[in-house]
Amino acid sequence: MHVSFIPLSLLAARALADGAAIVAAMTTISEATVALNSTVTSFPSNPLLDLLDVGPLLTDSLTLLNDINSATATAQKSANLTISEVVAVAEATLSLASTVESVLTNIVNSKPKFDKLVVVSPVILLNLKSEKSATDKFGAAVVAKVPTAFQTTAQNLLAPIDAAFNSAIATYEQFAIRGRARR
Ligand SMILES: *[C@@H]1O[C@H](CO)[C@@H](O)[C@H](O)[C@H]1NC(C)=O
Ligand SMILES: *[C@@H]1O[C@H](CO)[C@@H](O)[C@H](O)[C@H]1NC(C)=O
Repeated sequence: MHVSFIPLSLLAARALADGAAIVAAMTTISEATVALNSTVTSFPSNPLLDLLDVGPLLTDSLTLLNDINSATATAQKSANLTISEVVAVAEATLSLASTVESVLTNIVNSKPKFDKLVVVSPVILLNLKSEKSATDKFGAAVVAKVPTAFQTTAQNLLAPIDAAFNSAIATYEQFAIRGRARR
């Protein structure tokens, strides 16, 4: 009885965590990123109450962070990817990279709005750092499941996401200096 039970559970684990599950997790990340983008866009240009305006930003950022962490767990549980799964994940990565770049550009362009409330830009900086670190872990978890011959290509596909995060973080790190210079 146990002999037949074990292969079944292995089959189930494989069905739950494979290339398709990673692609699905990346779609979830993309949707959370787009939702955060809308919240950033609708942030008032004349904010009145810190908590009232910052709440939705925090909620969306936390959702995104959770989605990235879940995607990492999915990738870690996954079997090694087949070539066709690598192709599907690569396509999803290209698409996610363009979404992330667009949203980070919007976050950078929106900084003057956020700077009007003392707490907002430092909070966004912390969120960007957490999201970058979570994204790096996700990328490493996926690359570990890619055949060795494709690992460099996989890392190259992830590089623009990392570069976009670094550039957005550098912009938000200037907050304290500029804030002081304005006085
Ligand atoms: C993010 O928002 C900006 C400004 O509204 C918009 O131009 C851009 O297309 C949006 N990007 C995504 C991926 O939704
Ligand atoms: C999975 O792929 C990695 C990297 O290519 C390799 O080191 C590892 O041995 C593979 N594992 C299995 C079970 O094939």
